[in-house]
Amino acid sequence: MSKLTAAITAVGGYVPDFVLSNKVLETMVDTNDEWITTRTGIKERRILKDKDKGTSFLAIKAAEDLIQKSGVNPAEIDMVLLATTTPDMPVAATAVYVATQIGAVNAFAYDLQAACSSFLYGMSTAAAYVQSGRYKKVLLIGADKMSSIIDYTDRATCIIFGDGAGAALFEPNEEGLGLQDEILRSDGIGREFLKIEAGGSLLPPSHETIDNGQHYVHQDGKTVFKYAVSNMADVSERIMQRNDLGHDDVNWLIAHQANRRIIDATASRMNLDESKVLINIEKYGNTTSATLPLLLNDFEHLFKKGDNLIFASFGGGFTWGSIYLKWAYDKK
Ligand SMILES: CC(C)(COP(=O)(O)OP(=O)(O)OC[C@H]1O[C@@H](n2cnc3c(N)ncnc32)[C@H](O)[C@@H]1OP(=O)(O)O)[C@@H](O)C(=O)NCCC(=O)NCCS
Repeated sequence: MSKLTAAITAVGGYVPDFVLSNKVLETMVDTNDEWITTRTGIKERRILKDKDKGTSFLAIKAAEDLIQKSGVNPAEIDMVLLATTTPDMPVAATAVYVATQIGAVNAFAYDLQAACSSFLYGMSTAAAYVQSGRYKKVLLIGADKMSSIIDYTDRATCIIFGDGAGAALFEPNEEGLGLQDEILRSDGIGREFLKIEAGGSLLPPSHETIDNGQHYVHQDGKTVFKYAVSNMADVSERIMQRNDLGHDDVNWLIAHQANRRIIDATASRMNLDESKVLINIEKYGNTTSATLPLLLNDFEHLFKKGDNLIFASFGGGFTWGSIYLKWAYDKK
């Protein structure tokens, strides 16, 4: 009997309608379109404006898109994993609410947080559950309402992030398609350089933390950039070597969309042709847990059964890694 692998069998996505362009940001902070475009590759990002809607709204929309397109029966989903850094509430897990809302009434659900690598780590988790033979349909959603934790007077962060969600269904495969290999890493040195200081057990929220803006994302961009460039390129190159993949063997690079220059540096180390490097950062900015599944959703029409996809991410923590996955279907 062939080894059971875990393949992605359907994808979905959602971004809110409201577009926050570089031009509008120029009126909010001391920045300009040219600076943002050349330093990051971002032109605009989507923002969930409704004050009464949280990350669950985005996640539900992405999951419903997947369910509608694939025809999967939500009652057959065994497990819902929500990769997110912006849960609706610290307690209870947002995934549980999402699962119920989409009709995944027989599933168990929980959240998974590893900043911008949440979805990549989630792919490993989802695949492991499927490969174990214990569960057959695992829905992994990556969703973040980054606008809820961004200070729109801080030009170092407000130009980068956007809101969005994407989803992928993992199922067993007996043709050897799906997840092939992974390199996942982390280093606690990173928490000094990209963080929300207050609101957790170390520094519970207070009037003082609010006055100090410690409930917002703070980032030492230069340092994060340096670590991201070298680490994301390292693991992507290593996963190719380890699997005897030359640059011709790789069909697509699905890289976390944090900065166009970081993606280009990774692609260059992998010696990949530009046409294989999938990019949508110009439209959405950095949507944290949603960048990888939104790429899958936007470019699904390009993928052919058997294509070799290399995923790569880097995020706060620090957390980073690379996954090698064989695509399992042609889009109908
Ligand atoms: C944030 C980031 C785009 C900044 O780009 P950078 O080239 O490192 O820019 P620097 O921070 O060195 O700033 C260069 C100059 O631009 C200025 N600047 C910073 N933000 C600016 C903005 N939004 N508009 C205009 N100027 C800005 C700085 O003040 C600095 O001016 P100075 O030279 O007079 O001091 C980049 O560091 C980055 O992408 N970092 C990683 C982000 C990331 O991946 N985060 C998520 C983790 S997944």
